[in-house]
Amino acid sequence: MSETPTGGATGQANGGLELRDTRTGRTYALPVLPPGTEGDTALRGMDLRQVKVEADDFGLMSYDPAFMNTASCRSAITFIDGDKGILRYRGYPIEQLAEGATFLETAYLLRNGELPTREQYDRWTHDITHRTYVHENVRKFLEGFRYDAHPMSILCSSVAALSAFYPEAKNIHDPEVRDIQVIRLLAKLPTLAAFAYRHTRGLPFVYPDNDCSYVENFLSMLFRMSEPRYEANPAFLKALEVLFILHADHEQNASTSAVRAVGSTHVDPYSAIAAGVAALYGPLHGGANEQVLRMIEEIGHPKNVGGFIEDVKGGRGQRLMGFGHRVYKSYDPRARIVKQLADDVFRQVGMDKDLEIALELERIALEDDYFVSRKLYPNVDFYTGLIYRSMGFPTEFFTVLFAVARTAGWLSQWEEMLNDKEQKIARPRQIYVGPAERPYESRLR
Ligand code: ACO
Repeated sequence: MSETPTGGATGQANGGLELRDTRTGRTYALPVLPPGTEGDTALRGMDLRQVKVEADDFGLMSYDPAFMNTASCRSAITFIDGDKGILRYRGYPIEQLAEGATFLETAYLLRNGELPTREQYDRWTHDITHRTYVHENVRKFLEGFRYDAHPMSILCSSVAALSAFYPEAKNIHDPEVRDIQVIRLLAKLPTLAAFAYRHTRGLPFVYPDNDCSYVENFLSMLFRMSEPRYEANPAFLKALEVLFILHADHEQNASTSAVRAVGSTHVDPYSAIAAGVAALYGPLHGGANEQVLRMIEEIGHPKNVGGFIEDVKGGRGQRLMGFGHRVYKSYDPRARIVKQLADDVFRQVGMDKDLEIALELERIALEDDYFVSRKLYPNVDFYTGLIYRSMGFPTEFFTVLFAVARTAGWLSQWEEMLNDKEQKIARPRQIYVGPAERPYESRLR
């Protein structure tokens, strides 16, 4: 940034902004960063620091609670256009990946930037499949939880615990070491998630079956009983594969930002991913699908939907869970695919009262001016809970499913952050609004 203290215009060869500080009369030329692939532009926050009233001032900061308008990185992984309802991984539309790809193919794409060839895919799948077992001490660790522990708490702690089992993982600057941790995390998350489920059900743990696909093995570890081999319902298998693809990444959301922030301290990836699991647990983020079902249970009957919507609008009670999104201000493209999946699954298992309530909620909300004027549309979580429940998953397990899938995105974003020369330890500024300096006088009389 250049500055003309006299207030005159400054030359801008590449275009930019001219900022006039009315406190001092000075004018500053603020360069605009080269646009991203889709034309996004930004100013560099640090350029503002030269804007000062006194020479020894700290300089101007930008104030952006909840990062409503702050880009924290340049990323080549996921593109979202919230107004147009577009979601792409590495340039590929989510609809096409959901239609044709597998989850592991998508995870490879997210991490490596290109779709795998057959040879790369087979290698990737083999490496992941052969690392699905966890150390027996991890199993003992899991057994220490109470039967009524929330599976997200179990998952979060057990992912963090893996850091103690792989101390070499802290060599994050060694690409080979990183490679193996990425594979381990993708491989072991389903095992930890399934063990968490079995523990809360008081069921014996089922060890991984390396002859199954990723999703099939997961279902086997969750639901197999005495049969020698678990046969998954093909409609459920397809639905879970697609749901995993839809949840694999979503650029700089709260949990991904948590992974990047914690990872920016150069801690090992298990600790960073555990931070992502913790962030995802919150009801405003990954916990929303669980809240949707609780809300539907509370409504109880389609005839109560109208009254419930009025309460939401009047601020009496909760928000309409599964509606609204920080980024999408039109229909979440994932919600469209999920609705189609819900139709397929419910054709198999039959329609139930709760689906009727959900359809009625959606119908009324999409016509109601409160929701229309605020651009509140169903998000990905609105129907996923209903699908998961019809597949036999307990409500508190929904966010765990989300975490297993999102691990692919978290790991890709974590590695991109590490390889980004512009990144440093994440450390926001603040505007201090507490007491000014005052002398200590004890009040302990
Ligand atoms: N029900 C009712 N009103 C809502 C809802 C909702 N679900 N979401 C937003 N609003 C209203 C707000 O009250 C506010 O109204 P106002 O302008 O009159 O005050 C307006 O819409 C804007 O809301 P914000 O909270 O400013 O929007 P923000 O972008 O911060 O929030 C969020 C996004 C957190 C997703 C919000 O829409 C929400 O709480 N939704 C319900 C929870 C949910 O489904 N979360 C899942 C998100 S998807 C995911 O994480 C995978």
